[in-house]
Amino acid sequence: MHSLFDPGSPQARAVANLWWWMLAVGGAIWIGVTAASLYAAFARRGHREGDDLLHVPPETHHRLERVVSFAVLATIVILVGFLAYDFTVGRALAQHPERGMTIDVTGHQWWWEVLYENPDPSRRLLTANEIHVPVGEPVQFKLRAADVIHSFWAPNLNGKRDLVPGYMSTIWFKADTPGVYRGQCAEFCGLEHAKMAFYVVADPRPKFNAWLAAASQSHQTPTDSTLLSGERVFLSSGCAVCHAISGTQAFATVGPNLSHFGSRLTIAAGTLPNTRENVARWIFNPQLIKPGVIMPRVPLQPAQLSAVAAYLESLK
Ligand code: CUA
Repeated sequence: MHSLFDPGSPQARAVANLWWWMLAVGGAIWIGVTAASLYAAFARRGHREGDDLLHVPPETHHRLERVVSFAVLATIVILVGFLAYDFTVGRALAQHPERGMTIDVTGHQWWWEVLYENPDPSRRLLTANEIHVPVGEPVQFKLRAADVIHSFWAPNLNGKRDLVPGYMSTIWFKADTPGVYRGQCAEFCGLEHAKMAFYVVADPRPKFNAWLAAASQSHQTPTDSTLLSGERVFLSSGCAVCHAISGTQAFATVGPNLSHFGSRLTIAAGTLPNTRENVARWIFNPQLIKPGVIMPRVPLQPAQLSAVAAYLESLK
């Protein structure tokens, strides 16, 4: 779901209402202007051959003056009205009513790093491209960029906010409707800007807590032989040079953190649904799916490829 017209938070609802008012007033003005133009075009037909069209009778002149003055006044009233309305909405969006949880989001070319802060550093949760939030609670986002300017935009939940290198910006929202909302980078950031999406999963508190507990579980070395060989491939074939899976020897932070990767909805920042087949296609040649992506092609035997895909899918 990726739409301004289906708000899932009071913030997005305020933005949508502003949009509908602008459409209604703008539409009414357009109809009025069109009607006036048509009237002007056809009213001329009433004149006879030989009339002096440049001579305007005084009573018509006065009427025209009144119409123009009214139109100028109406324009000022409408513009000032929308300025005030827009200002109120902007202020309401910027104000934090109460303190809630904080999530750090860092934009990378072309994926989103998501960090759930915790006063206990061992309980910080690092994930990517998917943000789980509890419904009915304000969530503040601290936004940073690792390379170039990106923009965080989940239209069902709030407006856009830029992520600027060397600077921290913030945005917040309070989802009031459970759902899965699509977000998208909204600032051109290079070749794969369009494939830099994310998902916000808004769940009631108990379901959110269950997700949080599952996502905080430490990794268990698989007992299944295929999965175990998949883990060996992951740790020895170059994957671990860029990625991390908590509880293993892989702790690099160049690419997305893959702990609990199997529980995510999509892969490659919203590019493909998260299935074993897609994961294998992606690892086989990332450039085919996302040309320009920084992830290199890792040469693997077919058996190694399917084992590592099965292993990643097993990380729930
Ligand atoms: Cu990141 Cu566009």
